Amino acid sequence: MANVVKVSPFLRTVSGRIIQTSVVPVRNASTEKKVFGPLKDEDRIFTNLYGRHDWRLKGAMKRGDWYKTKEIILKGHEWIQGEIKKSGLRGRGGAGFPTGMKWSFMNKPSDGRPKYLVVNADEGEPGTCKDREIMRHDPHKLIEGCLVAGSAMGACAAYIYIRGEFYNEASSMQIAIKEAYEAGLIGKNACGSGYDFDVYLHRGAGAYICGEETSLIESLEGKAGKPRLKPPFPADVGVFGCPTTVNNVETIAVSPTICRRGGDWFGSLGRTRNQGQKLFNISGHVNNPCTVEEEMSISMKELIERHAGGVIGGWDNLLAVIPGGSSTPVLPKSVCDDVMMDFDGLVEKQSALGTAALIVMDKSADIVNCIARLMEFYKHESCGQCTPCREGVGWMNSILQRFDNMSVLC
Ligand SMILES: Cc1cc2nc3c(=O)[nH]c(=O)nc-3n(C[C@H](O)[C@H](O)[C@H](O)COP(=O)(O)O)c2cc1C
Repeated sequence: MANVVKVSPFLRTVSGRIIQTSVVPVRNASTEKKVFGPLKDEDRIFTNLYGRHDWRLKGAMKRGDWYKTKEIILKGHEWIQGEIKKSGLRGRGGAGFPTGMKWSFMNKPSDGRPKYLVVNADEGEPGTCKDREIMRHDPHKLIEGCLVAGSAMGACAAYIYIRGEFYNEASSMQIAIKEAYEAGLIGKNACGSGYDFDVYLHRGAGAYICGEETSLIESLEGKAGKPRLKPPFPADVGVFGCPTTVNNVETIAVSPTICRRGGDWFGSLGRTRNQGQKLFNISGHVNNPCTVEEEMSISMKELIERHAGGVIGGWDNLLAVIPGGSSTPVLPKSVCDDVMMDFDGLVEKQSALGTAALIVMDKSADIVNCIARLMEFYKHESCGQCTPCREGVGWMNSILQRFDNMSVLC
């Protein structure tokens, strides 16, 4: 069981803002776990990850979704936020911001404006394909998560902003939303709790920048998806000028299970400051590319060998791994031998957990060509609003294309 003690009082956010942290769960040094993974079956949250079972309401209820949701809501927003804080859950969209703390930014006395939850289902980062698995195979987990998270922050509605290319996922989500309305699980008096809560699905047009939360909000409002300056932060002025919290699909989808099983259960997985289970995507030069749910802090080598059938040609044939989606720094093989797949483990190696999407390259890969290809993506996706990116990514792209042409000639 996790003890709650005060740790480092300050935390720097991705935007460079330094904020004071609240209490986060930390285990005593004596009870600190040393070995992480494999995740036990009973600790799995995504029990239909591979789409082998019925994803519709009946199937979802059989797997435990929508169980005692009314009771969770009736426990109140402080209780829900408390369990999420206790669990140590950090945002699964890339930046790893503590979720319970983020939700508590919405704890302001009402000034008459409605509050909104926005679910970031844009998932445009190359290598990343975890949220789509949730939406097509477990859409009710996300809808139930919207209700639980929404009630924790006093929101009247959730907008799920889904990437334009995800046609099938949007279709499953829409069917599941309709089922939830018809069963009285959302809408007026959601689950019989007395709480009114709507869920809307909004399809984007497939722009990478719309994954950035303020561009997403602009796009949701019907404008071109370009980032806003912060402050004001979305919790003060978000979508339609109202207090808003933007969270990733996976972050929201795990919240009902955390409330049902307790923050301490989630907090007992993974190491301190990096708790919980996580969906990992493993692609590239592995024998069995896959998406898998594992315990946080598992070693990279074990993750690849146990679930992805190992690197093609064996571990010694590994060249490098991009550990957390294409925007995270590449790790050479020498570093990959002992990396813990969590926020702190990857920062220690001067990279980042990002979206936990590993792109594995064996010795047959031409690394210059691979990076040049990614740079072409970033050049194509630059929204053009800020000069360093609009001009700089173009320059980096031409330089890398030149390197690439030279490496072909060598
Ligand atoms: C260029 C860019 C693209 C992003 N794309 C996504 C995305 O596709 N999905 C996502 O959840 N977060 C994305 N993010 C992070 C979001 O801005 C935001 O931090 C996240 O949705 C917060 O959710 P979380 O706290 O649950 O992690 C992106 C950030 C940037 C700067």
